[in-house]
Amino acid sequence: MTKRSILITGGAGFIGSHVVRLFVNKYPDYHIYNLDKLTYAGNLKNITDIENAPNYTFIKADLVDANSINDLFNQYQFDSVIHLAAESHVDRSITNPLEFVMTNVVGTVNLLNAAKELWKGNMDGKLFYHVSTDEVYGSLHDGGFFLENTPYDPQSPYSASKASSDHFIRAYHNTYKIPVVLSNCSNNYGPNQFPEKLIPLFINNIRNNKPLPVYGKGENVRDWLYVVDHARAIDDVFHKGAIGETYNIGGFNEWTNIDLIKVICSTMDRKLGRAEGESEKLITYVTDRAGHDLRYAIDANKIMKDLGWEPSLQFEEGIDKTVDWYLNNQQWMDEVTSGDYAKYYDNMYAKR
Ligand code: NAD
Ligand code: TYD
Repeated sequence: MTKRSILITGGAGFIGSHVVRLFVNKYPDYHIYNLDKLTYAGNLKNITDIENAPNYTFIKADLVDANSINDLFNQYQFDSVIHLAAESHVDRSITNPLEFVMTNVVGTVNLLNAAKELWKGNMDGKLFYHVSTDEVYGSLHDGGFFLENTPYDPQSPYSASKASSDHFIRAYHNTYKIPVVLSNCSNNYGPNQFPEKLIPLFINNIRNNKPLPVYGKGENVRDWLYVVDHARAIDDVFHKGAIGETYNIGGFNEWTNIDLIKVICSTMDRKLGRAEGESEKLITYVTDRAGHDLRYAIDANKIMKDLGWEPSLQFEEGIDKTVDWYLNNQQWMDEVTSGDYAKYYDNMYAKR
């Protein structure tokens, strides 16, 4: 039997690095090719533990460059794709939407075209797995949950670009019979997340006694899942998901931002030996994000029932582990916050 040749895109990023690690370690019979452009969000230090594994190859490439993507498919004869590479931060999409169209839409279509070309005539054993977000469903205002058949209603340039990429995946399945599977996950947290996102940004600011910029009144609700549990779900969807199907992934774990921030503050007080309530004094309410989605909440019953997946961690345990990881990996944080980060931070927060 020939070894499976699996392309994982975005494997130097936050979620991708956990997926690459899981697949390289758990499936020595697969060869894992990790394709990443190494943007500001991509960091090979996230995966130093597996970089010398015999079943692992890193490829630096840009999804927007169709020629090099086609060449790579010819060279490595990928039989499956797990597509995570994306521009992923809502605030950046508000500042520079076109970048999101290029990577998330054009980049996805380039990958689909390369797969279509290589797999034409024999789709047996092939799979294109697209990893997406619950943000494509829009914002919940009157209770309820996102189901797999909730109509798409993206509200930010980021979610509009992800929704578009999801539509292309389904269109290529319908038109060219590419075997596809999709998943839409809620907010992830855990080790290796770039500190532009709420949880690592706030952990880093608390450590450095910097203000904690809460958008609006902090009443927005997000449904948080530990990143390793998302990677486990991706493993299940890849191996057991039905072709053409979509699976929503989430932890039934909703928090208003302000309540979540208070948990982070008290955890940090405890870990840093500060007086209870010390870190909360850093909370600063700032101008809201434009078009800020009020609430996301995933109904994850389908993946739980059909594929037997469930989250392994309670939230309190996940946050504890996450805070420990950032405190024990200060050098990782210092490296990613050197260079352009200060400029990003000033541009994003100075005017709020
Ligand atoms: P991330 O920003 O941490 O990582 C993205 C990776 O993609 C980086 O390594 C980056 O270098 C790479 N990349 C960006 N543009 C590229 C290009 N043109 N060519 C090749 N590589 C490129 O993102 P993440 O949080 O790990 O998210 C991964 C995927 O999961 C995304 O598709 C995102 O939409 C989805 N998702 C994220 C969350 C979340 O909470 N973070 C939740 C649900 C779904
Ligand atoms: P974020 O981590 O950017 O994820 P998303 O917008 O994709 O859900 O933000 C999570 C929530 O935290 C969101 O409601 C916006 C809010 N937020 C702040 O209040 N302050 C911040 O500095 C950031 C980055 C986010």
